[in-house]
Amino acid sequence: MGEVILVSSGKGGTGKTMFSVNLGAILAKYGYRVMLIDMDMGLRNMDLYLGMEDRVIYNLMDVLTGMCRINKAMIKVDGFETLYFMAASPRKDERDITQLHMRVLCDKLKGIFDFIIIDCPAGNGEMLDVSIAPADKAIIVTEPEIAAVRDADITERYIMENGIEDTRIVLNKVDVDLMNRGLLPDVSVVAEIFNGPLVGVIQNDDNIRISTNKGIPIVIKRGTYIEKNFKSIASRVISNNSR
Ligand SMILES: Nc1ncnc2c1ncn2[C@@H]1O[C@H](COP(=O)(O)OP(=O)(O)OP(=O)(O)O)[C@@H](O)[C@H]1O
Ligand SMILES: [Mg+2]
Repeated sequence: MGEVILVSSGKGGTGKTMFSVNLGAILAKYGYRVMLIDMDMGLRNMDLYLGMEDRVIYNLMDVLTGMCRINKAMIKVDGFETLYFMAASPRKDERDITQLHMRVLCDKLKGIFDFIIIDCPAGNGEMLDVSIAPADKAIIVTEPEIAAVRDADITERYIMENGIEDTRIVLNKVDVDLMNRGLLPDVSVVAEIFNGPLVGVIQNDDNIRISTNKGIPIVIKRGTYIEKNFKSIASRVISNNSR
């Protein structure tokens, strides 16, 4: 049976979608079957980061409202044998989706995929609530800014209060120079704030920004320090023992 991983942050723009796409890509490179789900209704980006924006016909909302069957909305990502995604709807959708809808959908997907990665929108809103329902664990992606860390802390508590015990933290957009000069909160200081363990530190790197703009997951490029870093983050994300 597959595992459902929720990716959340609290504050916007911390790198949730970049992280989801590259985590999915690296797991698929290992041969796992991976489904990426974009929950950011109305402000979807995942299709762009995967370079697949021209291929979306049906989206997640169409599946959840019974407009189409699941496989119509499952889009295989070019260049990967085992990486698929489901797009969010392009407009803020008035149609109701419930926790039960997401549970039923993910139960079906768990029979097909090893990992289902749900990329949530920023904030602790309705889409987070419906995404928590099927999730087995949560990754909180934050950055070393006091506002981002506070919001991530609040989000982690919220997720735990809603029944997910297994939370893990990824610190993204780390500027080592500023951190070393004491101008940004230190990795160890950030790590102590959270309940879950820190499973990854990702540097602020223009190559990551360029890759999302090109629509090519950066981990595709072999032999880079970023690929290596994502490999070890992925192994800590999927391990059962988070400590
Ligand atoms: N480590 C990094 N180094 C440089 N740029 C990064 C890094 N991580 C993410 N970015 C850039 O930051 C921007 C926001 O990333 P992304 O869209 O993944 O954030 P998000 O948390 O999903 O945002 P939202 O809250 O809007 O969904 C993008 O331009 C992305 O390329
Ligand atoms: Mg996003």
